[in-house]
Amino acid sequence: MRIEPGNAGGVDGVGAPPPSRRAFVAAGLSTAAGLVAASGVGAVAFSPRNAAAATGYPKGFLWGVATAAHQVEGNNLNSDEWVLEQMKPSIFAEPSGDACDHYHRYLEDIELVASLGFNTYRFSIEWARIEPEPGFFSKAELDHYRRVAAACRENGLLPMVTFWHFTSPRWFAAQGGWEGDGAADLFVRYCERTAKHLGDLVGAAATFNEPNIPHLLRWMFAAMPQNPFQGAQVMMQAAARRVGSDRFSYFMFADPDRARDTMLAAHHRALAAIKAGPGKYPVGVTLAIADDQPVGHDSRLDAKREALYGAWLDAAAKSDFIGVQTYTRARVGKDGDLPAEPGVELTQMGYEFWPEALEQTIRYAAATAQVPVYVTENGVATEDDTRRVEYIKRALAGVEKCLGDGIDVRGYVHWSLFDNYEWMLGYRPKFGLVAVNRETQERTVKPSARYLGEIARRNGA
Ligand code: BGC
Repeated sequence: MRIEPGNAGGVDGVGAPPPSRRAFVAAGLSTAAGLVAASGVGAVAFSPRNAAAATGYPKGFLWGVATAAHQVEGNNLNSDEWVLEQMKPSIFAEPSGDACDHYHRYLEDIELVASLGFNTYRFSIEWARIEPEPGFFSKAELDHYRRVAAACRENGLLPMVTFWHFTSPRWFAAQGGWEGDGAADLFVRYCERTAKHLGDLVGAAATFNEPNIPHLLRWMFAAMPQNPFQGAQVMMQAAARRVGSDRFSYFMFADPDRARDTMLAAHHRALAAIKAGPGKYPVGVTLAIADDQPVGHDSRLDAKREALYGAWLDAAAKSDFIGVQTYTRARVGKDGDLPAEPGVELTQMGYEFWPEALEQTIRYAAATAQVPVYVTENGVATEDDTRRVEYIKRALAGVEKCLGDGIDVRGYVHWSLFDNYEWMLGYRPKFGLVAVNRETQERTVKPSARYLGEIARRNGA
């Protein structure tokens, strides 16, 4: 695949000519930060929304694409999720396997992102790689992620790092996961070590990705005749036996209240640990938020919002930003979420094609958390890339309206860079701007990638 020359525009400071890759390697990873600072690439500022550009997007607006380690790297052998994918029976449609082999191909992938016109790359760091055994922190793996962040800088991309995106080490699951004792301490220790190793290269960070998912699942399943995860307990018991424990706790199937309380405590302490430096960058948390629309006079909208977002909006209010992650709307009736409205187009995920949701969730998040908003995920699962272009167009119209009303939105990061491993659903849903051949790993850029990339390059227009 042909890689075009790197992106020259975008975020303040990012446009400066990057030092050559050889220079990074020659200087050694530990001094890469010095090169970054000297080149001016490290000068990407977390500045308040400044003068709006003619297009409506402020100067320095972040335009990015997102991935998550487990979904793209491949062979995440020490993770809890890997164990579950191997169980028979498993509620995972298929194992993640090599995924997009992004672990080895990150450099060409990052060059591709830059060449498309983006200025930001959101990726996650895999705790299961960094700390494969309790208390053993792999310098080699920390260096790997340092190289990923350095490659972003070198290509003019702001590294937006997620410290945890659903997966944990298998030993963590075997000792109770987010339901076990000492979970917060363990997570904070991992964040501290990681931030110390590569914080000088980071541009923005989230502690957790969508820690409100267990509550979302509980809410959704309550309105269904049958819990689609009912096979999960058998699978988890088999996983416990596999890892030689009497328990195995995976985030998505954990007791929602227990996991939330532990993760809230962990978030605040991890945020402080990350902000202790090196580096100076905003740290927040991302939430799964739907455009919840009340239906009927006795809608449970308020109850839903309190259960799914309440505590996390409070946490975001004490953070530097809130990451809004929106895919669709939900119509909330008296018994919970209603099925899709007849006649409305569905995505491959089975929910409604509803790009207008984003405008509403940005407004909701900004009004409730009252901190700057980054859209850290927004996208659509479809085989028809023309529908993705349409989705992006309409979602961005909503972002522009929010900006026009003075809401402090600082970036739009699309989910996802690749057609990747969609958790329980395996590789079937196609969220990618870029297709990946599952046999050869060849990347094919879709028209939607060019479409959004051009908008990014021009900061709107
Ligand atoms: C998650 C991603 C996931 C995406 C699409 C988000 O909830 O952060 O990992 O792939 O939605 O379902």
